[in-house]
Amino acid sequence: MKIVVIGGSGLIGSKLVPKLREHGHEAVAASPNSGVNTVTGEGLAEVLKGASVVVDVSNAPAWEDAAVMSFFETSTRNLLNGEAAAGVKHHVALSVVGTDRLSESGYFRAKIVQEKLIKNGTIPYTIVQATQFFEFLKQLADISFDGKTVRVPHGLFQPMAADDVASAVGKVAVGQPLNGTVEIGGPETFRIDELVRRRLAPLNDSREVIADPNDLYSGAKLDERTLVPGKDARLGETHFADWLKSSASQPPTAKLPSAAVATATKQS
Ligand SMILES: NC(=O)c1ccc[n+]([C@@H]2O[C@H](COP(=O)([O-])OP(=O)(O)OC[C@H]3O[C@@H](n4cnc5c(N)ncnc54)[C@H](OP(=O)(O)O)[C@@H]3O)[C@@H](O)[C@H]2O)c1
Repeated sequence: MKIVVIGGSGLIGSKLVPKLREHGHEAVAASPNSGVNTVTGEGLAEVLKGASVVVDVSNAPAWEDAAVMSFFETSTRNLLNGEAAAGVKHHVALSVVGTDRLSESGYFRAKIVQEKLIKNGTIPYTIVQATQFFEFLKQLADISFDGKTVRVPHGLFQPMAADDVASAVGKVAVGQPLNGTVEIGGPETFRIDELVRRRLAPLNDSREVIADPNDLYSGAKLDERTLVPGKDARLGETHFADWLKSSASQPPTAKLPSAAVATATKQS
């Protein structure tokens, strides 16, 4: 089966493509680096020819409110139109657990629009909402640093390894479209400040980490469980302590709600 992975060069995409190939699929990594741009449309019709499934694990290169909205709206419209023309049977998109509860955030308003376009479109779909990636924690600390302390929002989250995200998205991609949303998350729930502290320790990063109830996540106020998935979430196997011991815990780290968090941190 030909499966086109939009954002195939990114953190999740670069793990997903080899997994799909290992299972005998013709997985094609598509992104501006390989001549496929979902915003301009460059290379899109060509790469979609003969594809049965499209997996969108792309992310916006700029995260100011207007830029991120323009990216997800234009990219998703172009993709869905291209898929309709090419006869694609399943559109899979990676989103974030709690997206619908985070509409105070410009980044998440853009993800809400992305999800709506998919739900209202004609291509059978599955939206996979993932929790934060372990690989994102160091970056979360960096963008939450005010020069003296790392200030993160008060609340719980249930992050997961990027490798488990890729495995879960891969399973969805080769399955039937659900025309619905599945949540995926890590095996354990943590306080955000606790886990950022545990991430920094082995990096010999001695910055103080505090939970600030007034701090915003990507511009949005969090409740205790805003970022926590529901009871039906499919859970990854990798525990944080094991991930920390693995090579996957070496920088560089993931990008994403990060820049939006940075903006939010400045705003807060
Ligand atoms: N970080 C988290 O904790 C988290 C949690 C849950 C869900 N997510 C979601 O996960 C998704 C992927 O995140 P990620 O961290 O894996 O992303 P990433 O590493 O930042 O990769 C972004 C990818 O998007 C591609 N891209 C950028 N502009 C494009 C365009 N115009 N056309 C086609 N492709 C384009 C990039 O291609 P080039 O390399 O060619 O530029 C790259 O392959 C995002 O949608 C995000 O919302 C993230």
